[in-house]
Amino acid sequence: MREIKFPENFLWGGATSASQFEGGYTKGGKGLTVSDVLTVGSKNRNRKITWAFPNSDEIQYSDVGGFWGDITVNDEGVIKVFQNEYYPSHNASDFYSRYEEDLALLHELGLKSYRMSISWSRIYPNGDDEIPNQEGLKFYRQIFELCHKYHIKPIVTLEHYDVPLGITVKYGGWKNRRVIDLFVRYAETVITEYKNFVDYWIPFNEINSVTVETFKNAGMLKCNDGDRAQAAYNKFLASALTYKIAKKIRPDFQIGCMVAMTLSYPKTCAPEDQFEALKRCREYDSFLDVLVKGTYPNYKLIEYKQKNIKLNIETKDEEILSQSCVDFIGFSYYTSGVVTKQKVENELHLLGPTNPYLKTNAWGWGIDPLGLRYSLNYLYDRYKKPLFIVENGYGDNDIIENGSIKDNERIDYMKSHLLSVSDAINIDGVNVIGYTPWGIIDCISLGTGEIKKRYGVIYVDVDSEGKGSFSRIKKQSFYWYQNVIKTNGKDL
Ligand code: BG6
Repeated sequence: MREIKFPENFLWGGATSASQFEGGYTKGGKGLTVSDVLTVGSKNRNRKITWAFPNSDEIQYSDVGGFWGDITVNDEGVIKVFQNEYYPSHNASDFYSRYEEDLALLHELGLKSYRMSISWSRIYPNGDDEIPNQEGLKFYRQIFELCHKYHIKPIVTLEHYDVPLGITVKYGGWKNRRVIDLFVRYAETVITEYKNFVDYWIPFNEINSVTVETFKNAGMLKCNDGDRAQAAYNKFLASALTYKIAKKIRPDFQIGCMVAMTLSYPKTCAPEDQFEALKRCREYDSFLDVLVKGTYPNYKLIEYKQKNIKLNIETKDEEILSQSCVDFIGFSYYTSGVVTKQKVENELHLLGPTNPYLKTNAWGWGIDPLGLRYSLNYLYDRYKKPLFIVENGYGDNDIIENGSIKDNERIDYMKSHLLSVSDAINIDGVNVIGYTPWGIIDCISLGTGEIKKRYGVIYVDVDSEGKGSFSRIKKQSFYWYQNVIKTNGKDL
C-alpha cells in the first residue's frame, strides 16, 4: 500500500514576495523597484513598462520583454510612474498595513514556515544609498517578531523580481559588476539585523530566469547575450559572497539557492526531440552546477566561446564561487513543458506545445504531479542536497458563492502534488525538507499582474483593477491545508 508520510520537522509553509504582496510602494521611505513601473496585463496581453521622453509627460509603453522579447524603451527615456495608470504592485494585497492580521491567519493555518522576501528598496531605497532606511528595517523586524511569537520560521528571499529602479537607471542592472557589492552590502545589513530571527536565507528567486526575464529579474533594458551571461555570473558571485558573509555571522545559517524548474518532456521519441529535452534541462542544470558545485559545465563554456561572450572575471572569483556552495536547493514547480525540434504553432512560451496527457488551468498551465516527483528525483540524483519546494500551486479565478469559496480544484492540485512528494521521500529516498505553496494569501500574478490568477488558501477581496475592500476570506482549501499540517501530511 502507498505509504503517506512526511518527516518530522517538515517545513509546512506558504510563500509570497514583497512586490506581489506588500503594497505600500512608497510608504516608510521605500524606493521604486522594477515592479512598480509595470502595468497590468492578461493571458494574451503583455505587461508594459511606462516611461516618457525627456521633458515630456506623454506616457509611452514598452513590452516588458520576458522570454527573449526586446524591450524598446528609448535610450533617453525616463522610466516612471504615471498618475492615471494602474500598477498592481503599488497596493498589491496590502500586507504592508495588514501584516498583523495576515500573520495571525497564517498562525491559525498552522504554518511552520513562511517564505517571504525583503524588498531591497525598502532598506536601500535607491539600491546604492550610504545608510539603510530605518523605517524599512523596522517594518521587517515587526514581521519577524510576530513570526517568532507564532513559531513560524521565516524563509527569506533577498531579491524576488524586485530590483531597485535606481540599479536599472544608474547602473544598467545586473550586467554591471558594481551591483554585486551593492547587493552584498544590502544582504549583510539584513542578515546582521535579523540574525536572531531567520535561519533560512535565499539570495535570489528563480536565479535561472535572469537570462529570460531580463527586466524583472536583472533590472536590464536592452541587452545582448553577453549582458545576460554577465548578469548571471554577477548573481552567482553575489550569492557566493552572501553565503560567505552569512556563515561568518552565524555558521549554522542555511543558505540556499532557488531555480525555476521547467521540466520538459520530449514530444516524440525521435532522438532530436530527446536531445532538445536535454538542452532544456541544461537551462537549470548550468545554474545549479555553479551554485551547488562551484563550476560552470563545459557545454556552457563552449557555448560562450562560440558566441564570443567574454565574461568580466576577476582573480578571486573562482575561489569565491568554489568555496561558497549552497546548503540546500529551493525550487519552484508549477507545471511541465514539452519540447520538440519541429516548428510549433501557438507555442506557449517556454512551456512549448500543449501536452495532450495533462489537464490545464485557465492560463494553460498543465497539471502534472508526477512531474514534481520526477523533478525531485532528478535534482537529488544529480546534487544530493536537501530539496525545498518553495513554490507550487494552482492559479485560478476563484468565485465567492454565498460568502464562501469552494476551491476544490486547488485542493486536488495540492493533494496530488503532495502525494508525489511523499512518494519521492518514501519510495525514492529523496531528502525533501519543506513545502511552501505559492501565494498562500492571494497576491498579484508575476506574469500578468492580475490578482484574479489566485493561488491562495486565503482570498483577498480586490480585483485586477485594484478595486475592493482588501478583506481576507478563508477558502475551503484553508481548512483542508490546516488539517494536512495538523496531521503532518497523514490526512491528505
Ligand atoms: C514564479 C515566481 O515563477 O511563479 C512567482 O517566482 C510567481 O513570483 C509564480 O508569482 C507564479 O507565476 P504567475 O505568473 O502565475 O504569478
